[in-house]
Amino acid sequence: MFNGQSHLASVADFRLAAQRALPRMVYDFIDGGGGQETTIANNRAALDDKRLICSGPYDVDNRDQRVTLFGKTYTTPVIIGPTGLAGLAWPWAEALLSRVAGDIGIPYVMSMASTCSQEEVIAENGQTNWAQLYLMRDRTLSDRVVDKAEALGFEALEVTVDNPAIGVRLRDVRNGFSVPMKWTPRKMFSLAAHPGWSLRMARSGPPTLKLLSDILGDRRTDTLAEMFQDQIDSSITWDDIAKLRDRWKKPLIVKGLLDARHVAKALELGVDGVVISNHGGRQLDGAVATIDVLPDFVREARGRLTILIDSGFRTGSDVARALALGADAVQLGRAPLYALAAGGEPALRHCLNCIREELDMAQGMMGAAHIGDFRSDMVFGYPPSPATPGKPSDVARIAR
Ligand SMILES: Cc1cc2nc3c(=O)[nH]c(=O)nc-3n(C[C@H](O)[C@H](O)[C@H](O)COP(=O)(O)O)c2cc1C
Repeated sequence: MFNGQSHLASVADFRLAAQRALPRMVYDFIDGGGGQETTIANNRAALDDKRLICSGPYDVDNRDQRVTLFGKTYTTPVIIGPTGLAGLAWPWAEALLSRVAGDIGIPYVMSMASTCSQEEVIAENGQTNWAQLYLMRDRTLSDRVVDKAEALGFEALEVTVDNPAIGVRLRDVRNGFSVPMKWTPRKMFSLAAHPGWSLRMARSGPPTLKLLSDILGDRRTDTLAEMFQDQIDSSITWDDIAKLRDRWKKPLIVKGLLDARHVAKALELGVDGVVISNHGGRQLDGAVATIDVLPDFVREARGRLTILIDSGFRTGSDVARALALGADAVQLGRAPLYALAAGGEPALRHCLNCIREELDMAQGMMGAAHIGDFRSDMVFGYPPSPATPGKPSDVARIAR
């Protein structure tokens, strides 16, 4: 149990606690989205719209959340996704995210905009780290990240393709958010109003884009963040993914797809997995909710591709919705950051445990003793899942 704030019982609680703990511009950077934030609203509405069918009796006495992704078994179908500048939520954030993921037995995807180095992350957990990649205009720079990730033992590579343009986050514009921070009297006042956070940052020093500065080396400029944005390539094509496939021999995952017609190309190039994502609503305002396109991906992939999903997932019931509609696992973006901001490592463990318990409850109520037992006809209005080798048929499940 999370000692300090055991009254926090769900991601929604951690979000409120984060709002109280963080200066406004930091909270808004984490919580905010692109434009009018319609995509964030779409994600939530679409998830809420998937009503789950629970209709026992079921024998679910022995429930199990284990899931196998890319040949490795994890304890629960939840992944800590990549979030840049996580060190703004809590010092040493990426190292803590990696440590906790390793202890729990779930993957952690380290962002390329990390405030820890790749070595620091690997030192915490040598087993369940994946690396996230932005392709840079100067490909020698992104190649360096890939090669180092391979040498250090990162187990999978997630290449993000949904930022050919950077989403305009109006909260950040209004707050004058920048890295490094430019101090105004209003921001100084906000620091004084959040002494816990300010003290932690004063002790650890302001977070910087450490992974990137390691790579840019002497190209470093005053505003590393701007350099980063200038360097992110706006002309990525499937040819680049093909080249990456040649370079990176371990599981390769493409993050940021919303159109299932890309599945054929991903399969043709030997990509191992996709993350259906709208970047948590931080990029295009008005984008489709990921859960709504998930069944199309499942239909196209026919079990030949690992299907991961993110954007808006907050509860075990949300995870159950994705599993029922055919996802292999769910990535979390903001939820772990809310938890870190609320109380560091213990809060993060507690938050992930809340989601795991919520999923366990959903498994019990929905008759899915094993993760592979989730089927699409457990969502109101959806037809039964197509037969998949190794999964019990719907008839068998009901009759059990
Ligand atoms: C503060 C923050 C930073 C992020 N940085 C990255 C990043 O560096 N690379 C990336 O691929 N996605 C990044 N994302 C997107 C997440 O990986 C994920 O797609 C999204 O947050 C999922 O939605 P959720 O926050 O509603 O769970 C970031 C998200 C947040 C909230």
